[in-house]
Amino acid sequence: MSCPPAPVTPTDRGVYVHFPYCEKKCPYCDFNSHAVAHDDGAYADAILAELAGRAHELGPGAVRSIFFGGGTPSLWDPPQVGRVIAAVEATFGFSEAPEITLEANPGTVVPDRFKAYVAHGVNRFSIGAQSFTDRELVSLGRIHGADQAHRAVAAALDTGARVSLDLMYGLPGQSWADVARSVERATALEPHHISAYTLTIEPDTALGRRTRLGLFTPMEDDDQAGLIHDVTAALAAAGYQRYEISNYAREGFEAVHNSLYWTGGPYLGLGAGAHSYAPAPDLSAAVRRENVKAPETYLQAALAGDFTPRSQEDLDRWGVVADRLWVGLRPRWGVDVEALAEQSGLGASLLEALLPALEGLAGRGLVARHGPRWAPTAEGFLFADLIARTLLDAVPAGP
Ligand SMILES: C[S@@+](CC[C@H](N)C(=O)[O-])C[C@H]1O[C@@H](n2cnc3c(N)ncnc32)[C@H](O)[C@@H]1O
Ligand code: SF4
Repeated sequence: MSCPPAPVTPTDRGVYVHFPYCEKKCPYCDFNSHAVAHDDGAYADAILAELAGRAHELGPGAVRSIFFGGGTPSLWDPPQVGRVIAAVEATFGFSEAPEITLEANPGTVVPDRFKAYVAHGVNRFSIGAQSFTDRELVSLGRIHGADQAHRAVAAALDTGARVSLDLMYGLPGQSWADVARSVERATALEPHHISAYTLTIEPDTALGRRTRLGLFTPMEDDDQAGLIHDVTAALAAAGYQRYEISNYAREGFEAVHNSLYWTGGPYLGLGAGAHSYAPAPDLSAAVRRENVKAPETYLQAALAGDFTPRSQEDLDRWGVVADRLWVGLRPRWGVDVEALAEQSGLGASLLEALLPALEGLAGRGLVARHGPRWAPTAEGFLFADLIARTLLDAVPAGP
């Protein structure tokens, strides 16, 4: 497998904005998402207050990406989204060709709404299509049908924005022919990017509870692995290269914002339950924090100028390096271990700790060396957790 460079540079920074509201809670979903009434203007006010109060954590310098995630940000009134984009630009400025993504549920958008988001600065949509078979969408508890998903993707593409489409597969009893139908309809629409997730049973969800009661039987791991292989082959044949465990893109359309996460870059997370990560440029330390999760508690606190986090962790140099390694071995471009040793100032001590572990993983066919870079193999994509654990075990806990 070839090893292209990451689509972000070490100076790129991002802003994540969490919109925690949904029309209906899906039974499999463990995101910080709530089907409760909300006030679009008040939520934007809270985000703007938090931006003003916490911008210093990211420091000065242009922003390369904004990601509106959820929840369902496509329920947010477009002018309110526009206020947030304008405030981020006024605060940091944008680097050339910023990527501004908004997640959309096909059940919440009509063509004019996509156009309105674009008029306010959004230039990429990530659309939760999930499947193009009505029966499967019903079993997933989705608020839309297949044709609505199809129309939403087509309307988003019509605006000229980049479009990514989410698929979920590995549902109980699902055959390759079932999945293939959705993959074919997805690729026929020619989106720029496809995220294809196998269904994960999260313990704290309705589906998790039904599974514990024996009312829902998840697909066996081996069967899911077979489908992952088939999905990857079908997407590759249609021009979508797998560049991360669940992410596939036409060449040059890899997600910038997510790539920032996978290279350990800095991002400021605004909104209920949003995560932030702020590493020092010399990697000597980093702060990781999580915002208060409950939307109403977050909203009231932010409007009162209180941005106390739900949790905060201060990392030392080895902690920052450990982060770069475990996230860095997820995407196809992997990690330049020698550059990391130099940039972190850990030099030979890092290489001595790491190279035997990487060579061990290479011996098992899970990672491969491409010049100074170590990257996951196709097999390694299936064992991301094992790779991460092995590398974290190899890196000493403290300086
Ligand atoms: C925040 S949602 C996307 C936007 C919008 N809320 C929606 O659902 O249409 C992010 C994506 O994560 C995926 N996802 C969520 N929960 C999942 C689970 N338990 N297993 C696999 N994929 C999941 C779905 O594909 C979903 O579209
Ligand atoms: S999957 Fe999307 S729409 Fe469904 S509850 Fe989760 S965030 Fe909301």
